[in-house]
Amino acid sequence: MSQPSVVLGVSGSVAAYRAADLARDLMRAGFTVRVCLTDAAERFVSRELFEALTSQPCLQDVFEEPERGRMAHIDWARQASVIVVAPATANTLVKLGFGLGDDMLTTLVLASERPLVVAPAMNPTMFTNAHVVEALERLRKQGATVVEPAEGDVACGENGQGKLASAATIVHAALTASIRSSRWTGKRILITSGPTYEPIDDVRFVGNRSSGKMGEALARAARMMGAEVAVVSGPVAVQYPAGARVVRVQTAQAMLDAALAELPGSDLVIGAAAVADYRPIEKQSGKMRRTHDRIDLTLVRNPDVLGTLVAEARNSGRNTRFIAFAAEPSDGLEIARQKRVSKGVDAIVVNDVSRSDVGFGTEDNELAWIGPTGEATSGKRSKLECALWLLERAAELP
Ligand SMILES: Cc1cc2nc3c(=O)[nH]c(=O)nc-3n(C[C@H](O)[C@H](O)[C@H](O)COP(=O)(O)O)c2cc1C
Repeated sequence: MSQPSVVLGVSGSVAAYRAADLARDLMRAGFTVRVCLTDAAERFVSRELFEALTSQPCLQDVFEEPERGRMAHIDWARQASVIVVAPATANTLVKLGFGLGDDMLTTLVLASERPLVVAPAMNPTMFTNAHVVEALERLRKQGATVVEPAEGDVACGENGQGKLASAATIVHAALTASIRSSRWTGKRILITSGPTYEPIDDVRFVGNRSSGKMGEALARAARMMGAEVAVVSGPVAVQYPAGARVVRVQTAQAMLDAALAELPGSDLVIGAAAVADYRPIEKQSGKMRRTHDRIDLTLVRNPDVLGTLVAEARNSGRNTRFIAFAAEPSDGLEIARQKRVSKGVDAIVVNDVSRSDVGFGTEDNELAWIGPTGEATSGKRSKLECALWLLERAAELP
């Protein structure tokens, strides 16, 4: 495997001088290190210092192109296993948390799918500023690792939390993130996502409340962990990551056909879609008129999408792992345990649909994992954090 590489982002804190030692320690830990400075950082430490230490060019201005004709922010974002921003100023953190890209460092982070580690360093009052607190919370929810600053005397003479964490702690976080970023490298993950719409007539359908947010989070997490990703998605408004191949479908049958076409070569299949169990027996053409007092809608059973994929993979002798999602009320764990066996999947992940704060359409989720070697719960977290948790467990399936 090629050497893991880190982009070390250095922003304008007094602690910028400590980034020089950090760059050396990251190199000793096995990383190729490339440094991106903010303009404020350059007032504290020079590009030449980092270029000499790392034997790599530095980036600072967003229009710089060390290799002519290649956009550096895209190139560096693609090549990095991890981006580490240390020290991270209040200003840079708030920009990262809210998605600004007005300098090379923040633009590079926007262009990256890989894990992000931030190590704040600032005056204690700045560290408890509401915008900084919110930005850090947002970054955590987006899957970033926050290396907490230490308590003690800071450069401005105050005492409190705000000192840049030790180089050893930051290197450890970078290594952990780097392991995560290659967890699924060279593997292909197929995800079904969203609801299916089963047509009643040309304008009406039988559907469900799945938003596709969990499927989107799984696709992002899988990309973050190095996988090649294919998503077969029902009708949703979410944006899947650009690095994922997305096939859009409407009905359960179309989802099955598309997923069967994507199955060969898949190492892991995650059935996160809420596939309609039943569909109207026939679709009326045009728009049904409001002429009857009562109409009866007859529904027939849809194919079992995941069940069919499992059977197809097992019949063809493919060593594909399968994870099913089950939307169950809080007392549905026993049903899910039975489903794991009857569906022939490796693990089943239960969403508690009786709660209003997690599950359908919400930003957070809480997953219960029922696997071949045991059970676990994720705790309530953002859907992306849940997805990372799930894919870590999936990587350890026997
Ligand atoms: C001497 C000096 C020390 C500073 N130290 C810090 C610091 O430790 N943390 C911080 O968040 N901002 C600090 N600042 C303020 C930042 O440099 C300022 O907000 C700047 O705009 C940050 O830009 P950047 O985030 O693009 O690097 C310091 C400013 C000065 C003049």
